Amino acid sequence: MFNLILFGPPGSGKGTQSERLISKYGLKHLSTGDLLRSEIAGQTPLGMAAKSFMDKGQLVPDEVVIEMISSALDNNPQANGFLFDGFPRTNAQAEALDKLLTQKGTEIAVVLALEVSENELVKRLLNRGLTSGRSDDIDENVIRARYSEYQKKTSAVADYYKNYNKVIHIKGEGDVDGIFESLCKEIDARLAA
Ligand code: AP5
Ligand code: MG
Repeated sequence: MFNLILFGPPGSGKGTQSERLISKYGLKHLSTGDLLRSEIAGQTPLGMAAKSFMDKGQLVPDEVVIEMISSALDNNPQANGFLFDGFPRTNAQAEALDKLLTQKGTEIAVVLALEVSENELVKRLLNRGLTSGRSDDIDENVIRARYSEYQKKTSAVADYYKNYNKVIHIKGEGDVDGIFESLCKEIDARLAA
């Protein structure tokens, strides 16, 4: 099993690159943002509770996303590996993920961290907000709040994995194909090891 985390701030290209990576490597894509948006679309109690946080650009409580990921792992026993996108976002989530993967006899192979400047992120997300229908993309203040949550709570997750020598930084600006190639190079090196 090969499990990887695609890490990076809001708008860094996690979703864009995940689509390509799962199709090339046959991994199961687990995006907590996508899972939460589908709960909202289904108007479930979990979705309604999460929406109030998401609309403000704040993180949803750890217990909620950890439970979602735990179920998703249980529901995909045949997967060759998982690509985690937007999870873990706090150290508590990273510790919980380690425990869940250990129980399944597996672990994270690598954390690929996309690096993009704040100005470029805001530009991308405001631009996407024109068409995406995502309520958290429309208001620049909410976009900045997402970035601030990332800096306060999420960037430390890279340090958590750095202790295990698992983090590779990848330049996330420039053309999508070039970034994809950089990501593949790192994955291929680890698959061959
Ligand atoms: P989530 O859905 O994870 O959103 P996000 O991390 O804020 O980031 P995005 O999905 O907006 O960006 P992305 O990095 O996927 O980039 P994308 O490829 O789309 O989370 C949403 C909310 O849910 C959170 O705020 C929180 O409330 C909650 N949540 C989710 N997970 C949680 C967790 N684990 N714990 C607690 N709460 C959680 O690209 C962005 C745009 O840029 C697109 O328009 C794309 O076309 C464009 N683009 C991509 N690559 C390039 C490039 N190279 N050059 C130019 N443009 C590009
Ligand atoms: Mg995304």
